[in-house]
Amino acid sequence: MSKETFYITTPIYYPSDKLHIGHTYCTVATDAIARYKRLCGYDVMFLTGTDEHGQKIEEKAKAAGVTPQEFVDKIVTGENGITDLWKLMNISNDRFIRTTDDYHVESIQRIFKKMYDKGDIYKGAYQGMYCTPCESFWTESQLVDGKCPDCGREVHYAEEEAYFFKLSKYAKPVQDLLETGEFLQPASRVNEMINNFIKPGLEDLCVSRTSFSWGIPVDFDPGHVVYVWVDALFNYCTAMGYLNDKYDDFEKYWPAHHIVGKEIVRFHSIIWPAMLMSMELPLPKKVYGHGWLVIDGGKMSKSKGNVVDPYLLADMFGVDALRFFLLRTFPFGSDGNFSNELLINTINVDLANDLGNLVSRTTAMVEKYFGGTLIAEREADAIDDELLGMIKSVSAKYAEQMEKFQLHLALEEVFKLIQRANKYIDETAPWVLAKDEAKKPRLASVMYNLLEALRVSLTLLKPFIPASCDKALEQIGGTEAATWENVSLYGVLPETVSVHKGETLFPRVDMAKALEELEAAKKKAEGPKFPPVLPNVTIDEFAKCDMRVCKVISCEAVKKSEKLLKFQLDDGSGTPRQILSGIHKFYEPEQLVGKTVVAILNLPSRKMMGQESNGMLLSAVHEENGKEELHLLMLDDSVPAGFQLC
Ligand code: MSP
Repeated sequence: MSKETFYITTPIYYPSDKLHIGHTYCTVATDAIARYKRLCGYDVMFLTGTDEHGQKIEEKAKAAGVTPQEFVDKIVTGENGITDLWKLMNISNDRFIRTTDDYHVESIQRIFKKMYDKGDIYKGAYQGMYCTPCESFWTESQLVDGKCPDCGREVHYAEEEAYFFKLSKYAKPVQDLLETGEFLQPASRVNEMINNFIKPGLEDLCVSRTSFSWGIPVDFDPGHVVYVWVDALFNYCTAMGYLNDKYDDFEKYWPAHHIVGKEIVRFHSIIWPAMLMSMELPLPKKVYGHGWLVIDGGKMSKSKGNVVDPYLLADMFGVDALRFFLLRTFPFGSDGNFSNELLINTINVDLANDLGNLVSRTTAMVEKYFGGTLIAEREADAIDDELLGMIKSVSAKYAEQMEKFQLHLALEEVFKLIQRANKYIDETAPWVLAKDEAKKPRLASVMYNLLEALRVSLTLLKPFIPASCDKALEQIGGTEAATWENVSLYGVLPETVSVHKGETLFPRVDMAKALEELEAAKKKAEGPKFPPVLPNVTIDEFAKCDMRVCKVISCEAVKKSEKLLKFQLDDGSGTPRQILSGIHKFYEPEQLVGKTVVAILNLPSRKMMGQESNGMLLSAVHEENGKEELHLLMLDDSVPAGFQLC
């Protein structure tokens, strides 16, 4: 009999920059679900990929001086790119789609034409406010404080001839779908969608662009490219071979379960089902909108300089420690505050102390007391009952949470068993039993029960920390036994099971030392903050610059200029010298009168806003993340005007 199928997807990521820990969180969570379903015996299709078209990519490529295709190739398949990151994180995706793949491009053109022929896509003109980073048009009423409601950035007015999708036609069936409560989860997101988007009235959606060219051309109307979200959403179908010859398993796997971040729930739970209805295709089984990883309550962003690099963390703490932390710590449906302290704490408490210790203590004791192989004789005791009960019941509780994608709660159940097993060691005191040869059967029972608790725990943890579980299962002689069929049973390991103590799975992390190392590694990865030193000049060349100490006689703002200040300076010559300087952003004129400054005097004079400037004031300047800092060079007032710098 063929296995039941289960199709699960991540969003396809924008290759506009390197991915960060937030993206990693989403993919690792989806991977854990996919692995769990495989463990349960499903024929799983796990898809991820990249969303490579759009204006933002086109602009970034231009700024980098490369073609858009070269730009995305580097981020997707280049060294330490997206595909490398997923390999490193042990992501078990079955397929990877790039929206620049030929087969996808052809399918999208067919899909667009099909909706056009049906009358669900029509030609019109678009006028509205456009957010370039989000590639979204917004109506005035949707803006928040005049800014993009998704990302909070500036929007600008845009107008263009465009194709529209009749989203309004599907408002009612989409609302009905949302109200089933099954389609979109967690439940809190349903009201958000209905109240914020459906109730105010769904407007038809602009689905083509003419203002840039990096997209899939509308083949029957050159000059138009398909809106990036139409191109992107259908990846879930084209990657299975829908309307193309590349693959042939659309019928087999579709419909999917979509795991997406909360800000793109709108696209997945309103626009996506509406377009599928138009295409007369079955609707997704589920859209699950997870929360964001935030830093100090706010979004990670490059400009804030607080983007967390998964490569760095995986390198320092190990891939499994990072995977585990992400899924154990943050409730999957809500936002979670990321911190390095929290990460290290989770490693030390759950992985080193609870799980790691249980594995190493148990294997060490079996080696010490039985030479690594248990004897067959047993002696049970009432104190075993609670642990044995938990061994048999944990998988049902775990599965109940996994089916609801409540990954942190599923892990919670496994850790209850692990903690109970650790307590059982203290209660049974094997080191005391070991002193009495007559108690050997009892000691064997204790050890066997611990190994069984480990077998079940490690099997259930495999979707989360696969490589570590494989190692630990091998140490306890449980590799073959780690199946879903066995997970609710007791007595699966052979009576005379052999174990061996291996390497420490999760070494304890020294918090202070690790935080220091992280800071240093982050600085190193960021590279030097300041530009490199310029090529040498000779001393004679340098001596040609006539730099003098000057006193500020007067200073005033230049009318109609936001930047310029006009200085009259005493340069020691007896005649005041006029210099203009663009530093009003940093100083008010009255702050500078009487100050001792330095100017280059032998620059050719030039006119600024119609006024002459004879030289240039020297300042210390630095620009980072678009923020400029400037400090005018000032000397001790005891230095007389006219002194030369050398
Ligand atoms: N390309 C679109 C998705 C198209 S799917 C048909 C996109 N790409 S993205 O790269 O910007 O984001 C991809 C996913 O990463 C989203 O689900 C988003 O929520 C998730 N995350 C980005 N930053 C995140 C955090 N800080 N925390 C958790 N997830 C975050 O949107």
